[in-house]
Amino acid sequence: MIKRFIIMVMIAAMTASALLISGCDDSDSNNKKVAIAFPNTTPSWQRNGEAMMKTLQEEGFTVDLQFAGTSDEQINQVKEIIETQPNCLVIGAIDGAAFVDVLERAKELNVPIIAFDRIILNTDAVNYYASFDNEAIGEAMGEYLEAALNLKGEGGPYNIEFFAGAPSDNNAHLFFKNSMAVLEPYIKSGKLICLSGQTDFNSVATADWNSDNAKTRIKNLLDTYYNAGQPLHAVLSPNDDIAGVILAEMQARNMSLPLISGLDADPAAIERIKAGQQTFTVSKSPELLTNKCVRMIKAVVEGTDPDINDVSTYNNGKITVPAYLCTPYIIDKDNVNNN
Ligand code: BGC
Repeated sequence: MIKRFIIMVMIAAMTASALLISGCDDSDSNNKKVAIAFPNTTPSWQRNGEAMMKTLQEEGFTVDLQFAGTSDEQINQVKEIIETQPNCLVIGAIDGAAFVDVLERAKELNVPIIAFDRIILNTDAVNYYASFDNEAIGEAMGEYLEAALNLKGEGGPYNIEFFAGAPSDNNAHLFFKNSMAVLEPYIKSGKLICLSGQTDFNSVATADWNSDNAKTRIKNLLDTYYNAGQPLHAVLSPNDDIAGVILAEMQARNMSLPLISGLDADPAAIERIKAGQQTFTVSKSPELLTNKCVRMIKAVVEGTDPDINDVSTYNNGKITVPAYLCTPYIIDKDNVNNN
């Protein structure tokens, strides 16, 4: 009861701050400018950016969509965008911790900020967060591998290797932490064996989510630990891009393919699932997230109350950012033809 009351008070306060942030009571989207700053590091960002721009334009907004390959490039883009004073700025952060200074200026100019997919850390200048349930994604990956290997049953032990995303992206930590919460007990019990011994985030992370870095690492792992016919039964891969290079490397060596996770439902991953190469992917439907985010943008611009379903999970080190978290779903051989 008390908890519900606190949530209601928080939501009322958020509504009030949304009004203050937007500083505008004009409910017409025409001539309102929305800026979007996204990474161009994986195909899913391209898809999200384009889907969002299209929907916003249909709603009558003017859209400034910019992609960046590095954090420095993105910070410079965002600095310039803020000076143009858009009615709302949506950021898919390359480095979640790099915005502390630059967003102070957004506050001065009353530019509302929505963090898209990845949280922005250590600043109170971020107003809302639109994402998927990133903890659930990690957990689903771990649980799928647990079930597919029948770790609760007899059999095994099975060899497994772990990959994670970029240390600069909070999502990468959440995915890995929640997958490992499921899988780690099986390493302890000896049911899962990681021949490389690399099971902590820093050892298995992929700098910049760059699949070339993952390629270098899988080559090293295979050369060093799987060079005498040892099977690799399973791989935890944090997204489809990285799963693709791991599978290609194993195919090039004529190894039996492992049970392997993915994320994003990239078209290439869907083809690999159909071909029986990739085990599954977690879909973060771009339509779902962009539609939610567009509604959030409209509310921010119009000074109304955005749809929020989480007010407690995303403490960014400075504030708890009110969020809308969409529900991801799994695509594997059983439902791939429906997607
Ligand atoms: C996103 C993933 C994406 C990865 C690499 C993460 O923050 O949640 O969907 O694959 O970044 O771009």
